[in-house]
This record gives sequence, structure tokens and C-alpha cells, in this order.
Amino acid sequence: MTATNMDDLVSLCKRRGFIFPSNDIYGGMKGLYDFGPMGVELKMNLKNSWWKSIVYERDDVEGLDSTILTSPLVLNHSGHEDTFTDPLVDCRNCKSRWREDQIENGECPSCNSNDLTDSRPFNLMFKTAIGPVDDGTSYAYLRPETAQQIFVNFRNIIDSTSRTPPFGIAQIGKAFRNEITPRNFIFRVREFEQMELEFFVKPGSDDDWHKYWVEKRLEWWSKQGVNSQKLKLLEVKKQELSHYSKATFDIMYEFPHGLEELEGVANRTDFDLGSHTKNQKDFKINSKVKENKDSTTKLAIQDLETKEWFIPFVIEPSAGVERGVLAVLNEAYTVEESNNRTLLKLKSHLSPIKAAIIPLKRNNHDLVNLANKVKSGLQSLGLGRVMVENTGNIGKNYRRHDEIGTPMCLTIDFESLENQSVTIRDRDTMKQERVSLSEIGNYYSNYFKD
Ligand code: GAP
Repeated sequence: MTATNMDDLVSLCKRRGFIFPSNDIYGGMKGLYDFGPMGVELKMNLKNSWWKSIVYERDDVEGLDSTILTSPLVLNHSGHEDTFTDPLVDCRNCKSRWREDQIENGECPSCNSNDLTDSRPFNLMFKTAIGPVDDGTSYAYLRPETAQQIFVNFRNIIDSTSRTPPFGIAQIGKAFRNEITPRNFIFRVREFEQMELEFFVKPGSDDDWHKYWVEKRLEWWSKQGVNSQKLKLLEVKKQELSHYSKATFDIMYEFPHGLEELEGVANRTDFDLGSHTKNQKDFKINSKVKENKDSTTKLAIQDLETKEWFIPFVIEPSAGVERGVLAVLNEAYTVEESNNRTLLKLKSHLSPIKAAIIPLKRNNHDLVNLANKVKSGLQSLGLGRVMVENTGNIGKNYRRHDEIGTPMCLTIDFESLENQSVTIRDRDTMKQERVSLSEIGNYYSNYFKD
């Protein structure tokens, strides 16, 4: 049985150190969460898996790590200052605030009053003062997407790597949105991480690349253990497209609270590079862009055959890390009533702990020494965190490691000291087998081969 409601996941995440409400001891803050000892590993493993598939396993993508604080000029020319808004409605009766699409039958969802204001655009960007004097003139935004810094670094990256389209720039990092109603645990939050690829292509080849990236991204989610039956592809209606998009496919997932967006794959055309480019009239820009007198740089490429300069189109797969973590946890959550246990059947590359080494008796010098030796050997293979559990309570350790998704537990007992072997218990089958110390390294590495 998999997770049926969000409460099961929230409770496991808190109990086992995956995710805590942020600023918890002061009552928490809405829409903000912290990742605990297990959560930080799971999140890092998911991000590493994305980076591996997008950057290392290909030869046409470069990486970037840019700043969060972003100049208002960037976010003005990108269109975010004017259009990155949600429609806000106030309830005059109970003073609560809602996104217009959350209001049904003209009633406040909190007090059922009909005394509501008309909706008005509310900009979702967080603004902060720069420098010691806060006189309102010197400010920056916390970026609402990582993408803009990729576009404004376009020239630096092509000049330093000699790339020509088709090629991409990838970035993983924080994004901030002042969501009107954050909700559904880590699904809609105000501070989150994105894994974004901006893939630059020749105009005309964009539709084919768009299809290519949708397929690639669906494949990747299924390799993370997300059941493809629970993924649905939704083409965003023309009237609902973001200001920069010609076409967007949303990869939707059946979260515990319903079918919602996990990742968006957009065709952003030449809108962004065109908006940020100097001397726009020198180029044939397909999208409607605002005049730019601020940029110092041409964000264009010269076609080596025709010698013509052109502004590439961009295909953008953009996934939320938190939504990915939620989907992966939801898929892995399993209750085995017959065995009276809850476990996370995580893909082994995502498991926060790769192996737990458990001496049979707490603080027994010889057993703990051997456990530490086994740990160092496995840890040095570089596949992730391996830990020694020196509590002497095997049953409790098995329960804990089942619940955090550790693929294997290795028990060091007195026989281990005599015949140099350990018992390995598999998380999913609960089968135990005796493996000699000289074989453990191979056994462990083979387990984590894709
Ligand atoms: N650069 C394109 C972009 O930002 P988006 O559809 O607004 O597009 C991309 O966001 C992804 O970021 C979403 O598919 C979602 O996974 C994640 N995301 C967006 N807003 C979020 C929020 N408030 N909380 C958690 N994740 C969010």
C-alpha cells in the first residue's frame, strides 16, 4: 500500500528527520520548510541525479551557479516586473486573502462571506534593499526563477566555451515567490529550488527539440522511481501561457492532494535573449519584446555558413526540487501490514543512507571496531553516506532504516569476528545473507550499479 494522504508523508518526514517546518520553535512561517539530516541527503541525491543526466552524460550542456540577488533591470526587461503576478482577492469580512482561482461561487473559502474585493494583480517577487541606506532607490529582487541569470550570462558562456546551438546551460538553485496561499506541504512554498535547463536551438528546429526534451524528462522521472502511470502530459492552453512562451507542456503528477504540475517544459522562443539584447533592431526577433536601452551586450550567434547573426530559440525544462522530493517520497512510501512495517522503497541512488552497519552489542569494543572498519571501506567507495548504528537494538534499527529507505543493513556479530563475514539484510525482501568481508565491497558496489 502506498501513501494515501499527505498527512502520512508529513508525519514520516518530521519523525525521521526529512523535513521540518522552518523557524519551528518560534511557531514556524507559512510556506517555508527546512530539510533535516535525511531530507538534505535525499534532496542532494535528486539534484545530483539531474545534474548527471543533464550535464555529465551529455556533451552539449554547460553548468552555471549564479547569484540569487538580481538587478531590477534584468527582471524589468524579462517582463517579470510587469507580468509576474497572480490575481489577488481580499475578503472584507475576515480579512483573508486568496488567489482568484481559489474562490468558488463568489464565496470566501475561510468564512463563506460574499463580501469580496475585485481581483487585482499581485506581484510575486520579493524585493530587498541593497547597501546600508534603505531609501527605496537601491534594491534587488530575490530571483523568481533561476533562468534569467542563465540568459544574462549567455555571452560570457559562449565566449568562454565556444558553444554554438544546439547547446544548453544548466543551473540548480533557489528561487523565491511570495505565493498568496502557500499550501500542500512542500508543494507550493515561498522559497524553493529549481533544476533548470535552457537549451538554445536554431529557430525552426525548436518544435522538434521541444518534443525531444519532453520525452527525455518523462524518462528521467521514471528513473527516479516515479510511476509513469501517475504522470500526465498537459499542453497549457494558449490563453494560460506565461508571457514568454509559445507552447508549454506541463508534466503533471498525481500528488496526494491531486494532479498538479511537477515540471514545465516551455518553448520560450527568442523572447528572453531578445529582451536582454543590445541593438534589438539589428535582429529579426520573432517575439514581441520591449525596447532595451540598458543592455550592453548582443545575445546573438553568428551562423558560420550564412554569416548571419541570429537570436537562438530556447527550450526550457524546469523542475521544482521540492515537488520532485514530494513525488519521490509519495511513490516510495509503502505500508506492509503483513510485516507490520512502513518502508520507503526509494531507488537506491536516492536513499539518504546507503548502508547501515550495526554491531550486535552496543559499545562492544571488537564489534564496534570491525563495524567502523567496514564503514570506512564502504564510505571510501564514494556512493553516499554509510553509517554505524551503535545502539545494540537491531529490531529498532531495522525499523528506522526501513522508514528512511536504507537499501541494506549489515550486522556485525560474534561470528563476524571469527569467520570474517557479516549478515546483510535487504530492505525490500527482508532476506538475510552471509557475505564474507572480502566480498562486501563488490556486493555493495554491484548493488548501486544502474
Ligand atoms: N523558469 C520557468 C519557471 O520558473 P514555473 O512553471 O513557474 O516556470 C517551474 O516553475 C517549476 O518550479 C514548477 O514546475 C514547479 O516544479 C516549481 N515551482 C514553481 N513554483 C513553486 C512553488 N511556489 N513551490 C514549489 N515549487 C514551485
